[in-house]
Amino acid sequence: MAARPVQGGLCMVMAIALIVIVVGSVLFHFLSPWVATPLASNWHQMDATLTITLVITGVFFIGINLFVVWTLLRYRHKEGLRAAYEPNNHKLERRLTLFTSIGIMALLAPGLFVYAEYVEPPKDALVMEVLGQQWQWRYRFPGPSGKLGLTDPRFVAGNNPFGIDPGDPNGREDIVVNSNEVHLPLGRPVKVLLRSHDVLHDFFAPPFRARMNMVPGMVTSFWFTPTQVGRFEVLCAQLCGMGHSNMRGYVVVDEPQKFAAWLKEQPTHAMALAPPAAAAVAAAPGDRVANGKALAQSKGCVACHTVDGSAGVGPTWKGLFGKTETMADGSTAKVDEAYIHDFIRNPSARVVKGFQPIMPKLDVSDEEMAALTAYIASLGGGAARP
Ligand code: CUA
Repeated sequence: MAARPVQGGLCMVMAIALIVIVVGSVLFHFLSPWVATPLASNWHQMDATLTITLVITGVFFIGINLFVVWTLLRYRHKEGLRAAYEPNNHKLERRLTLFTSIGIMALLAPGLFVYAEYVEPPKDALVMEVLGQQWQWRYRFPGPSGKLGLTDPRFVAGNNPFGIDPGDPNGREDIVVNSNEVHLPLGRPVKVLLRSHDVLHDFFAPPFRARMNMVPGMVTSFWFTPTQVGRFEVLCAQLCGMGHSNMRGYVVVDEPQKFAAWLKEQPTHAMALAPPAAAAVAAAPGDRVANGKALAQSKGCVACHTVDGSAGVGPTWKGLFGKTETMADGSTAKVDEAYIHDFIRNPSARVVKGFQPIMPKLDVSDEEMAALTAYIASLGGGAARP
């Protein structure tokens, strides 16, 4: 019987391995430097439910592993010992069903209570709408009427990303923040409405412990009250394509007076519809390049296009302007202003050889287009052309 000592030895190895895993996991939990960011909102209940989940799953994790260790040692192979066949043990099954049910209810119930509160904002909450789009954030606040303008996908355009109904007077007063950074007042509940232009996104600022999916075709919502002044990073928490990791933004929490001053400076939808001032159109080439660089960042272009010549998902912008590109169909095209405009306006019309046809269609205003083109041109092969 040569097999016996090997089996006995294997039992010991597995038992020791399990004990190492259990002890290591517990030590890792208490000694790990990765701890949650300090809470910056009212949602301490989120942390409480996470702790409840951790304690319940932790107890079961330790208990089940130690039980397996015990059975490995207690019932290891012995000469003449046979396992008893017991197809039905109603007493044991009833107990296991009961304990499992209690455990699962204890895991789910606290979260349901918190969720019920999470989607029921206080009456005096400030309303903020967040619009997600591959791969950028935009924000909208109601004007003096306190009511957001009606929207419809039919009205979505470069200067109207929210699709605000031009016939609705409330809509003209809406404050539209065309940037990935938004400000909020300290200590006031905020009702957040979420929409998506294209695919699933998820608005998440970890210190607020608040997040929600953005689903194309519906408006989702939650609320929170910022309790700390500061600048908090917003992450997209749904894998939404190539630029997902770059879909970031900021929520700046200000004292209420400072927030009011910031809000006053933001353009209304009516202003965005007005033709741009001649001064802005005739911006100095240097300003345009700087604007274009900022846009490349906020619109997520940099997720796919490098500016240092290194390989990316899309062609690098270094030396692109002025170069002759070969298309997948063998045709060639010189990269000039018209080429860049066409590509941004209609990315799927042609495919550059060696690249996938995955460039998303962005809504860019003429002004933004000019700035982006100026920036790309400034990175071009020859001398930068204004
Ligand atoms: Cu949007 Cu990930």
